[in-house]
Amino acid sequence: MKFSSYILGCGGYLPKKIITNNDLPKKLNTTDEWIKTRTGICQRYIANKKQLNSDLGFEAAKKAIKNSKINNTEIDLVIVATSTPDHTFPSTATKIQGKLGIKKGFAFDVQAACSGFIYAISIADNYIKNKQARNALVIGSEVFSRILDWNDRSTCVLFGDGAGAIVLTGRKKNSGIISTELYSDGRFYDLLYVDGGVASNQKAGHIKMKGKEVFRHAVEKLTNCIETNLKKNNLKKNDIDWIIPHQANKRIMDMTANKLGISKDKVLVTVDKYANTSSASIPLTLDHALSKKIVKRGDIIVFEAIGGGLTWGCSILKY
Ligand code: UT7
Repeated sequence: MKFSSYILGCGGYLPKKIITNNDLPKKLNTTDEWIKTRTGICQRYIANKKQLNSDLGFEAAKKAIKNSKINNTEIDLVIVATSTPDHTFPSTATKIQGKLGIKKGFAFDVQAACSGFIYAISIADNYIKNKQARNALVIGSEVFSRILDWNDRSTCVLFGDGAGAIVLTGRKKNSGIISTELYSDGRFYDLLYVDGGVASNQKAGHIKMKGKEVFRHAVEKLTNCIETNLKKNNLKKNDIDWIIPHQANKRIMDMTANKLGISKDKVLVTVDKYANTSSASIPLTLDHALSKKIVKRGDIIVFEAIGGGLTWGCSILKY
C-alpha cells in the first residue's frame, strides 16, 4: 500500500462557555428530549464575544505543533478550513501564521462548509506530494454561533464553536494518508446556505437549512463515497478500525455505518458534547480519541464529511 502525508500530531480547542440543551427552552420552543433523540446533541461550546476564529484556531494549532514535537518555524504551509473567518480578507490562515511567528512558506483559507477539513487535508497532501511543502498545519476552526438565528429552533440548537488542527508531514513513514475522494454538486446549493455575504447584502447572514433533505443526501452520498474509496485502494470494510465522521447528527452517523455494514462501535462520536462544529468537528474528534487513547498508531481510519454546497468527501489513512 502507498502512503503519502503522515499525521505527526493533533490538537483541539474549545471555548469555556457551555450551553446545555436544558438552557435552551428558556428562550426557544424546544426540549432537551427533542434535541437529544433527533440529533444526539446534549450540549455545545460557545465562544465569548471577544474570541475570534483565529483565537480558537491558534490555540488548537499550538497544541497540534506541540504534540508533533516540532517547532513553529518548521511549518511551511498553513491552511484553515472555515466558513466563519475573522475578516473578508486577509485569510484567517495568514493571521494564525503571523501569531505563530512563522515567516516562511504560505497560508490560505479553504471554504467548503462542513466538508472543509477533508478538502484542506487533500490540498495539503497534494502540496506535500509535489514537494511544495514539507510540514503543513491544517486547521478546522469555526464560530458558527455568529451566524445562527437564535430564534430558529430548526438550526440554532445544532451548532457549536471550536477548533481542531493536525500537522501533516512529508517525512517518509510506513503510514499516512492513503487516498482522498472529493465531490460537490452545486445544484443543491439552497439546501444549506447562509443568507448573507459581502456581495449579496454586506451582512454575515444566518444559516438556512432544509434538514430532512440534507439528511437523505448525507447517508447516501457518504456511503457511496466511502465504498468508492475503499474499492479504489483494494480495501475491505473489515480493514477499517475507526470512522471519524463529521459530527452533524448521531442518526446520520449510525445510518451511514449501518448502510456500509460497519459496526456502530467503530464510529467515533463527539456530537453529544460539542454539537456540530462544521469544519472543526473531525480534528476535534480525532483529538478526543487520541487523548482517550482510543485511536492508536497503525489504525486504519476513515474521515468523512458532507456540508453546504453540497460538498462531500472522505479520506482513508493509516494513522
Ligand atoms: O453539517 C452539515 C450537514 N448538516 C446535516 O447533516 C444536518 C442534516 N439534518 C438533520 O440532522 C435533521 O434533519 C435535523 C436534526 C436538522 C432535523 O431533524 P428531523 O428529524 O429531520 O426533523 P424535521 O426537520 O423533519 O422536523 C420534525 C419536527 C417539525 O415539526 P412538525 O412540522 O412535524 O410539527 C419541526 O418543526 O420537529 C420540529 N422541530 C423541533 N422541535 C423541537 C424542529 N426543530 C425543533 C427543535 N425542537 N429544536
